[in-house]
Amino acid sequence: MKVAILGVGTVGTAVANILLKNKSIIKARSGKEIVPVIGVVKNTTKARDTSLPLTDDLEAVLAREDIDIYVELMGGVAQTHGIVKRILAKGKPVVTANKALLAYHRYDLQAVAGGVAIGFEASVAGGIPIIKALREGLSANHIESIQGIMNGTSNYILTKMMHEKVSFAAVLKEAQELGYAEADPTFDVGGFDAAHKLLILASIAYGVHGDPEDILIEGIERISQEDIYFAKEFDYTIKLLGIAKRRGSQVELRVHPALVPSEKMIAKVDGVMNGISVIGDAVGETMYYGPGAGGNATASAVISDLIDIARDGQGSPMLGFKQPLEEASLSLMPK
Ligand code: NDP
Ligand code: HSE
Repeated sequence: MKVAILGVGTVGTAVANILLKNKSIIKARSGKEIVPVIGVVKNTTKARDTSLPLTDDLEAVLAREDIDIYVELMGGVAQTHGIVKRILAKGKPVVTANKALLAYHRYDLQAVAGGVAIGFEASVAGGIPIIKALREGLSANHIESIQGIMNGTSNYILTKMMHEKVSFAAVLKEAQELGYAEADPTFDVGGFDAAHKLLILASIAYGVHGDPEDILIEGIERISQEDIYFAKEFDYTIKLLGIAKRRGSQVELRVHPALVPSEKMIAKVDGVMNGISVIGDAVGETMYYGPGAGGNATASAVISDLIDIARDGQGSPMLGFKQPLEEASLSLMPK
């Protein structure tokens, strides 16, 4: 199975390298050899940590008939939307980690895809298989709520601010160097990235329509050392939470910093880790923990979708956005 990787930066490089390093177990599990044959970048002269052949000729790669699956790891919304639609319209599956794209165009892409697979496990919570858990493991439940830490960069910043005397700007720079942050880190610290992920999860659970602009979003930019001091003084920790709660036939969605009692499990989710609690009416509370950003962690989720598609033609299979876990789509509560 030949794979083209559109975007060979932090995540794309890790995908190419893990496909090579773990090729025998990937073949054993998928039943096929999954081979990255070409990567698309903007700047072909940049030094890279991969042996994947690279080109800046996106159109030539999109025109190749021999590519079986495209992996979209370029980021951005408008241009990428057009590209992904073109690939799906040709009947080729796409795997993407692009939550911003899905936050705006998930239903449209699903409509264009028809029966063609779109894998997006990597779009929420990096390496945590939260989409599979929600769609498959919890498919017997009405979902009461989904809440937690969905952005690794802001959690990394808040954790450092809680435990060390460091400036916001210095820790953000560190998170960027580690490959955790978005190309525009305002998406991380402004809460928008967490909102994109929350919309994706809420769409799977409730069939919610709506754009990020429709939900309450507050970031961590205004958290001061004084806030941290008082939180600690009263035995709380500050976390940026994404919250989806079922309220009758509506769903409330919001993202904002919250004071969390220090003994709670979510308060102990530190650094780049994400922690998401999902409450189902049958199972009660379940909790998912793991690395929320970074090349290798995200590549782990991207490749799991490639394996699913190689195995049975489905990316993050079973239910799409058009078939939420609920029998009917719920509406979004006005913010
Ligand atoms: P990077 O900025 O590291 O990589 C982006 C890659 O895309 C680069 O190789 C860049 O080329 C290439 N690219 C961008 N625009 C174009 C274009 N117009 N034509 C050709 N190539 C282009 O991003 P990440 O790897 O960090 O993220 C990729 C995607 O994954 C994003 O959607 C992001 O939100 C998502 N994601 C990222 C995670 C992370 O931890 N980093 C985690 C989960 C999801 P060049 O190298 O030449 O600049
Ligand atoms: N910038 C994102 C984060 C990457 O920090 O969580 C993972 O989606």
